[in-house]
Amino acid sequence: MNLADSAFLRACRRQPVPHTPVWYMRQAGRSLPEYLKVREGVPMLTACATPELIVEITMQPVRRYGVDAAIFFSDIVVPLKAIGVDLDIKPGVGPVVAQPIRDAAGLDALRPLEPGDLPYVTEAIQALVGELGGTPLIGFAGAPFTLGSYLIEGGPSKNHDRTKAMMYGEPELWHALMGRLTDIVLAHLRIQVAAGASAIQLFDSWVGAVAPAEYREFILPHTRRIFEGIQPDVPRIHFGVGTGELLGVLGEAGADVVGVDWRVPLDEAARRVGPGKALQGNLDPAILLAPWEVVERKALEILRRGESAEGHVFNLGHGVLPSTDPDQLKRLTDLVHEHGRG
Ligand code: CP3
Repeated sequence: MNLADSAFLRACRRQPVPHTPVWYMRQAGRSLPEYLKVREGVPMLTACATPELIVEITMQPVRRYGVDAAIFFSDIVVPLKAIGVDLDIKPGVGPVVAQPIRDAAGLDALRPLEPGDLPYVTEAIQALVGELGGTPLIGFAGAPFTLGSYLIEGGPSKNHDRTKAMMYGEPELWHALMGRLTDIVLAHLRIQVAAGASAIQLFDSWVGAVAPAEYREFILPHTRRIFEGIQPDVPRIHFGVGTGELLGVLGEAGADVVGVDWRVPLDEAARRVGPGKALQGNLDPAILLAPWEVVERKALEILRRGESAEGHVFNLGHGVLPSTDPDQLKRLTDLVHEHGRG
């Protein structure tokens, strides 16, 4: 099948679909036994720099579930590592940065990302495009706020205290940091598109910590520059968690598709985001730990409410939890294909 005719790309563009497309954030990862097997003894960042492993792990959920899109196996901190930031991904913890960035001198650690900095990304995407055939590949990057939080805090953070302290207290430094990260994010996304990714997702996972007025002042100009910098024929998805109050302003940032977590029903989300957008979401990942009948009921409700949106890409409201039974995801994929639009 022609890629442009795929249900996923058509839904992103708000065109009629043969069925509601579905994929899952973190579909390639710790919930899959075949993933745990190939990752045995291989550190996360080593896996992210090994094209054969990237290709294999990206393909695993496509083979198992028959999802409508693949998500490139990597991590949001990979481009930061590539420009020399001293960081690691600690199992069960997340990204940890050796020298957090807290002043103007710290910005020197963030040199621009050059096209040649991620050769393993380019190589893996080129191989994947051949292997995936008619299934689109989603490239991705972390958004400046979420990357900035890891860099400023030095690791995962509950309240993003130091991040917000810089945002409120040192706006010039904040915008300089966001500006540098925006350049890196754009370069990271363009490398993936140039290699053959058919859509991109910007993960601003932690931006729900910010109120709409502050989003507008401190973050929106940078996000806009990212979406404007991607060629318009490549659908752009904008995702965050806890963004119920931000959906309106996220709708202004320039993406084609806005991701919705499980806290706001899709019909209400469509109203908040405004016209001219498709929506992605929004099953609570924890529901998959309940019996199938519970999953089924909620998924059917989401499909029904999703009809209010101009386009609907079914997904979870956040990533697949490691304890999820892959059989639940298989059944869910089949259910969406059978009972969605089309
Ligand atoms: O299937 C996919 O979605 C593709 C791969 C992917 C990973 N990370 C692989 C990964 C994607 C899209 C990401 C993005 C990412 N990384 C985000 C945004 C998405 C989100 O969940 O909000 C964030 C915030 C990160 C930072 C990060 N990296 C965290 C919080 C963790 C988890 C740490 C842990 O072990 O609990 C990681 C590591 C990571 N990234 C793993 C995977 C499969 C687990 C590491 C492992 O398997 O050893």
